[in-house]
Amino acid sequence: MMHLPAARPCRAELPIIVTRSVGSESGMIIRAIDTTDIPDIAALHLASWRAAYDGIMPAAALAALSTVEFEASWRSQRSDAQRTHLLCESQGMIAGFVGCGPCRDREVGGRPIGEIYELYTHPIRWKQGIGRALCEAALAVLEQKHFAEITLWVLRENKRARQFYEVMQFVQDSVAYKTLRRFDMDLVHVRYRRTIR
Ligand SMILES: CC(C)(COP(=O)(O)OP(=O)(O)OC[C@H]1O[C@@H](n2cnc3c(N)ncnc32)[C@H](O)[C@@H]1OP(=O)(O)O)[C@@H](O)C(=O)NCCC(=O)NCCS
Repeated sequence: MMHLPAARPCRAELPIIVTRSVGSESGMIIRAIDTTDIPDIAALHLASWRAAYDGIMPAAALAALSTVEFEASWRSQRSDAQRTHLLCESQGMIAGFVGCGPCRDREVGGRPIGEIYELYTHPIRWKQGIGRALCEAALAVLEQKHFAEITLWVLRENKRARQFYEVMQFVQDSVAYKTLRRFDMDLVHVRYRRTIR
């Protein structure tokens, strides 16, 4: 049985990007991630990784992961000024986050293309509209930055996320895939694309 870290309370004093209602809930807040959020974001990231990749990546490797490496990765990403990192506060917890910015793939070329680098919601909040709210906020940020088209990479075996992105109108780019080596495994990723509008 998987043990998830407890959700921790959050602060809402930072500039708010979006407030909206989702289903019966009012007061969902989407705002920029601040340095002080990093420990909570790292804990959420780890919890979501463990739940999402259970059965895809080795159980022992997932169990051995700690928030230390997620925190380090977050601190280094935040030094990249081209990236936007947003989180969603809902029901007194940080419920998810998204990272986006310019597309990292060279070959897509032509016109300016944006990318969603990662989108994670807390497993206890899956299927409650948090992912949609974060995805739409990222699309709005990328549109403001004049990107007309968006790409993203997702693990081929990650059916949950692929179904989510298809609901969010992303279409698989059938010729694009890449393999990343982790935990002594070749992890195949596929690319999805959509126009902003
Ligand atoms: C993928 C993920 C972000 C979806 O977030 P979520 O908060 O559960 O998504 P939402 O509740 O906002 O769902 C939005 C829409 O997608 C649909 N959807 C979500 N998960 C789905 C699934 N597994 N199968 C089918 N549809 C799904 C919802 O029904 C909803 O449709 P609707 O708005 O038309 O009713 C979440 O499952 C997650 O964090 N997974 C682990 C991390 C991950 O794999 N991230 C992607 C790789 S970067």
